[in-house]
Amino acid sequence: MAQAVTLWLDRYPSPDERLVAQPVKRILVGNQKGGVGKTFVASGIAQAMAEMGLRVLLIDYDPQGHLSSRMQVDGLPEGGESLLTHMLGESTKHIARSLVSIPHERFGGRLHLLPASTDAFLMDTKLTLLQYGRDTCLVNALEPLEKSYDVIVLDGPPNLGTAMDLAINYVHRRPGELMDHSGILIPVWADRSSFDAYNLLTEQIRAHERRSKSKVDRLGFVVNAYDARKGVVTRGFYDGWYEQTNPGVLTTLKDAIEGREASDMQVPLLDYAPDSPHAQAMRNLAKELAA
Ligand SMILES: Nc1ncnc2c1ncn2[C@@H]1O[C@H](COP(=O)(O)OP(=O)(O)OP(=O)(O)O)[C@@H](O)[C@H]1O
Ligand SMILES: [Mg+2]
Repeated sequence: MAQAVTLWLDRYPSPDERLVAQPVKRILVGNQKGGVGKTFVASGIAQAMAEMGLRVLLIDYDPQGHLSSRMQVDGLPEGGESLLTHMLGESTKHIARSLVSIPHERFGGRLHLLPASTDAFLMDTKLTLLQYGRDTCLVNALEPLEKSYDVIVLDGPPNLGTAMDLAINYVHRRPGELMDHSGILIPVWADRSSFDAYNLLTEQIRAHERRSKSKVDRLGFVVNAYDARKGVVTRGFYDGWYEQTNPGVLTTLKDAIEGREASDMQVPLLDYAPDSPHAQAMRNLAKELAA
């Protein structure tokens, strides 16, 4: 009997053991539509996860560098090489040299940022010229960091180019990885163009899945900057998002002053307005994604 139980336990490890064995959680906050709140959400969930006690790496994967500037980080640290340099295999130093620790006490030294670099504006062009290993160059660049983190969050760019394709590939479900452990989190607005944008994004994800024969989990929508006072049409699109089931809506973030102010003041939201509804919503979202 005891032998049978041991055999069974070997075969079906406890959920905790399975989770421990999971690869680092990788979340791409993505939508090619500009200004929908990708940076706001990426930064907010990363802050909340670090506050919860997780080790979090935020990657500013948008050459505009909004995430870096809103974290008051002025580019790469001295001696650090850009993510693109690492992706092209031209680096001379460990990629950990490119990271900056976000100093606020509530993050306990657990929140790190890989800042944007202006060479990322050339990423698509340079990657097109890469003859070998283009599909895996982001995976390979980040691999040396993965064991040091519980979660890696990428702030996606506002386009659907090669760089975005590599980010989609980075969060695909790896062999043995549980469904929805990693994937794409999609901020949207309650308007028509957000639905059009989502259809395009879905096409790119599906094309990637077909090409790579892998699965990319869509973790859910964040309906952002919602204001019911905008009228019945807005409310109709809002209801439209809530009718989606695969994936569904994870949360709604209202259009509120703290979000805008935190960005403009370049202070992390959870430090700027820790008790605001936005901060609490980010914590709830982080808990759900980390579960
Ligand atoms: N729920 C919200 N309430 C108030 N302001 C918000 C909210 N969400 C985002 N913002 C503000 O709107 C602006 C655009 O948001 P953000 O930069 O996160 O969008 P984005 O999708 O990353 O844009 P881009 O496509 O340029 O990367 C920022 O100033 C941000 O602080
Ligand atoms: Mg952004």
